[in-house]
Amino acid sequence: MKEWQSFDEIVRAKGMWLIDSNGYKMVDAVASMWCNVWGHSKQELVRAIATQSKKLQHSSMFNLTNEPAERLADKLVGISPGMYKVFYSDNGSSAMEISFKLAIQYWDNIGEKNKSKIACLENGYHGDTFGAMSVGYVPQFFGKFKKQLFSTIQFPVPNKYRIPKGYTYSDYQNYCLDKIEKQLSKDDKIAAFVMESGAQVAGGVVIYPKYFQKKISQICKKYNVLLVLDEIATGFGRLGSMVQYTEQKSIPDIVAYGKMLTGGYLTMAATLASKKIYDSFLGEFNDWKHLFHGHTYTGNPIAAAVALENLKLYQKYNLIKKIQKTSKVFERYYEEISKLESVGDIRHKGMLMGIELVTDKDKKTPIHPKKSINKIFFEEGKKHGIYLRTLGNIVMLVPPLAISENDLNLLLNRTIKTIRSAQKLF
Ligand SMILES: Cc1ncc(COP(=O)(O)O)c(C=O)c1O
Repeated sequence: MKEWQSFDEIVRAKGMWLIDSNGYKMVDAVASMWCNVWGHSKQELVRAIATQSKKLQHSSMFNLTNEPAERLADKLVGISPGMYKVFYSDNGSSAMEISFKLAIQYWDNIGEKNKSKIACLENGYHGDTFGAMSVGYVPQFFGKFKKQLFSTIQFPVPNKYRIPKGYTYSDYQNYCLDKIEKQLSKDDKIAAFVMESGAQVAGGVVIYPKYFQKKISQICKKYNVLLVLDEIATGFGRLGSMVQYTEQKSIPDIVAYGKMLTGGYLTMAATLASKKIYDSFLGEFNDWKHLFHGHTYTGNPIAAAVALENLKLYQKYNLIKKIQKTSKVFERYYEEISKLESVGDIRHKGMLMGIELVTDKDKKTPIHPKKSINKIFFEEGKKHGIYLRTLGNIVMLVPPLAISENDLNLLLNRTIKTIRSAQKLF
């Protein structure tokens, strides 16, 4: 923390630009923590917030409902094949906590009292609350709380750049899938398999090989384990599809959205469940089958109104098509970025790129400077007019989804300049 005694104050933002109290502009390569879709100050979204605020700013979803939340639920179910009902919360971590509770209680509700274990992938990330830390265990982030976390069954993930010795990429995929299948076939206490959909983001931008998620989905079905997919960072176009699980040909029982749901304008997340899951919660009052879970801001009408407007804009501007086209701009920079002295690997899909920094390209040794990498990149990035963040030894490029080709070119050029000057400081 000593490194961060004072912060730059952002006072305004417009489009892709963050503007600090001195009027200095930085291009937002982080999309305000991966959630910004249209850039800042998008008038339609600002108007949607203002209009709804004048009608109803908040009530409660205990015994009541509200029109924007209802309409949004219909829209979310409409874009999510196999899903039936929506449970709202106000951040991604909570949406994941709800997904774990739904999955565990589903089995209890149908009389399977012992099915309560959670299986997941190593290095997944599902948020910072205790359940989310238990399931998405990243050792550097959560090691201090290990004793308090509940136990999970974790399986390795094939990361093409870091395949263990003696395996090809394809062998290692089979090894991981075999391990999952063996465990699920013999352990009937596993309630759910939880994973990020399409790629692990915070765990190092690990993009799954083709069919990996599909095969896990098939294994789950075969052994009667629920599949819970976390699309908080990867859905809504981040990886190039509106809903990543359809692209991955997988069939979840429960799925969570967050981040881009409101375009990055207000805090809202959603956990969707299939009819099978929902129906198991229907019972007489004394059956105690209902889910004891609720947040103050569950189903907030202003957040729902801006999410609805956001979804409308996805259609109006054909955003998913646009992302697929703009995303190709990243490819033009692969060669130039890979040639940089400290770059070991580039991983890219849709509007997400991870650039892994190493000290030795052959040995793939992660960089470990004395100052935090984050600090170096923040300072060097600022000099080049770009707000950049790293996660571990990985530079994350997660721009607003609607970024223009011009702005993306500018962002990538500034990233290259930043890596060049930063690598002198490692
Ligand atoms: C995949 C994934 N799940 C869950 C979360 C948690 O979301 P929140 O920060 O809104 O709690 C994140 C946040 O980065 C995430 O990347």
